[in-house]
Amino acid sequence: MDKKNFLVIGGAGYIGSHMVLALEDQGHQVTIFDNFSRGQFRGTDSTIIFEGCLLNFEDIDLCLKGQNFDVVMHFAAFAYVGESVERPIDYFENNISGTINLLKAMQKNSLKKLVFSSTCAVYGEPTYTPIDEIHPKNPVNPYGKTKLFMEELLCDFSASTDFQSISLRYFNAAGCDSRNRAGECHEPETHLIPLVLRQAYKQIHNKNNDAVNLKIFGDDFSTPDGTCIRDYIHVEDICKAHILAAKRLLDYPAVKAECYNLANDKGFSVLDVIKACSEVTNIGINYSIMGRRQGDPEMLVGDARLAKDTLGWEPKFTSIESIIPSAWEWEQIKSKNE
Ligand code: UFG
Repeated sequence: MDKKNFLVIGGAGYIGSHMVLALEDQGHQVTIFDNFSRGQFRGTDSTIIFEGCLLNFEDIDLCLKGQNFDVVMHFAAFAYVGESVERPIDYFENNISGTINLLKAMQKNSLKKLVFSSTCAVYGEPTYTPIDEIHPKNPVNPYGKTKLFMEELLCDFSASTDFQSISLRYFNAAGCDSRNRAGECHEPETHLIPLVLRQAYKQIHNKNNDAVNLKIFGDDFSTPDGTCIRDYIHVEDICKAHILAAKRLLDYPAVKAECYNLANDKGFSVLDVIKACSEVTNIGINYSIMGRRQGDPEMLVGDARLAKDTLGWEPKFTSIESIIPSAWEWEQIKSKNE
């Protein structure tokens, strides 16, 4: 793809920040639109920053005005499964109203190509595994419901206009930039791999060594070891898929609204993750078992053949053993600076 002009909404967040780097590494011009409420990444010397809030139509309208972005990528959303159960109104308001403002502003400014960050949480509890794109969609938490609503909105929008979108349903994003320029960083952190690695770091560096902060949410699921199973995808592979999706939108004007899974078709339990992290960090990681976290499906493993066949996506990191080392590198850099 020759040099294009991209807008990355939510470019300060975990996946958005890696996306900015991936696009700039390929020579594209990138603008970040973000309210910087949860992310910290501020781009590189070449990145254009627009600080604004998607809930304010005027902000996003001003950002788009006269800019001729070739493709918009939309990552800005509240994305904690557990929090979405506790704060459904905030999730529906933020995720859906923000996206509606974006679509209205894109329409007003004649921008027609969007890559949308969706999630496997749109499926809910699987009725078969691995989950493909035609699997029934019955999200079991408000977060997944908001993403499904937005996918449907995109579908309806393109049915009546020449708007084009590709929604990428990621399974569990993990790992960090291979050059350590960005990493997984949520505030507060609720994701399994960074929390496991934080526990390892504390044990290795004798920080609060006796405290067992790491908790496993439930060991009574119907899985071989009783803990939840997830399919982990490296963030760099996710970014690769976004670039392929953007290329598809640019190459094929007939594309309307498409959805693709990004997955490795491999499930790892919470205990598998802890074991793999113990091997990478060379320490037996302490944990305690708690009750289940509300809204957690038992097992999410995806079939990504459609993305491979249609987009030409080929993930590089296909096991947690290959994903955890970059996350550990980042955890050490982050913890050293705390
Ligand atoms: N878990 C623990 N202890 C923790 C944190 C997590 O046992 O301290 C467990 C969870 O219960 C779950 C698994 O580890 O079974 C993974 O949990 P994460 O919080 O890391 O990720 P989720 O699966 O809840 O959610 C993530 C993203 C969502 C996305 C989803 C798709 O945050 O945006 O993956 O599965 F929709």
